[in-house]
Amino acid sequence: MPGEKEKLLMYSVNMEKKSPIGVFDSGYGGLTILKEIVQVLPEYDYLYLGDNARTPYGSRSFDVVYHYTNEAVRKLFSLGCPLVILACNTASAKALRTIQQTDLPLIDVKKRVLGVIRPSVEALALYSRTRHVGILATRGTVASESYPLEIEKLYGPGVFYVTQKACPMWVPLVENNELSGIGTEYFVKKYIEELFDCDPLIDTVVLGCTHYPLLRELILRYVPQGVKVIGQGHIVADSLKDYLKRHGEMESVLSKQRTVRYLTTEQPDLFVPMAGMFMGEKIEAEHISI
Ligand code: DGL
Repeated sequence: MPGEKEKLLMYSVNMEKKSPIGVFDSGYGGLTILKEIVQVLPEYDYLYLGDNARTPYGSRSFDVVYHYTNEAVRKLFSLGCPLVILACNTASAKALRTIQQTDLPLIDVKKRVLGVIRPSVEALALYSRTRHVGILATRGTVASESYPLEIEKLYGPGVFYVTQKACPMWVPLVENNELSGIGTEYFVKKYIEELFDCDPLIDTVVLGCTHYPLLRELILRYVPQGVKVIGQGHIVADSLKDYLKRHGEMESVLSKQRTVRYLTTEQPDLFVPMAGMFMGEKIEAEHISI
């Protein structure tokens, strides 16, 4: 017969709640990551949170991006997510480390927050032959130097020659569904030309902002022939799959009902059409305050 202590333990094991994976972005961009994660890991449940009311984060200060991201992560934790993916380079660059090192130990040591920069850097070696790479990103990500620092940390100094180019007009264009037309084309051409003027030997370009895959067709039109343009969706999805294989303690607390729930800090009727376009299917969304 189990004693009181064992009974309590059995009760808490039986009652253990399984929960969705949280995916966060400043707006719609993280949906380009979510879409590929769902393709690679369809069995899990997902809770997407877009901070559309406060987007874009790209040109905001370190303190503001950290504060907003921390609020969003705490919200996803409070909704039960044991694991949150920052599907946003700007948030990964400016907030991830502080959240991991300072906030998580105070919130709950069992919860985890992962970003998109490290897996993208790990994948670089598979693509670049010249070891000259270009990073297209928001002003915030570029100014944080997260990509060059992470590349140097992983591969050592002088292995890769990294050129960064901030593309501050691209996120507003994407957020406003201006994915083609002469205005958009002008800004795509401008930033790509400026990148290759700095280093014509670049053979691999990382789309270091989760909004940018929406401009991929145009970007491909202006990069020199043979240059590889890498989006992060499949890289982050494969990296998450690998993470869950290695972390059974996390995998075992994730629910598997194949659902995706969308939350936005803006009005859902504004979010739904654009998000549906990103995901390539009809979706429903709920408003949330954070
Ligand atoms: N999607 C975000 C990123 O990957 C940034 C968008 C923004 O500026 O808010 O950097």
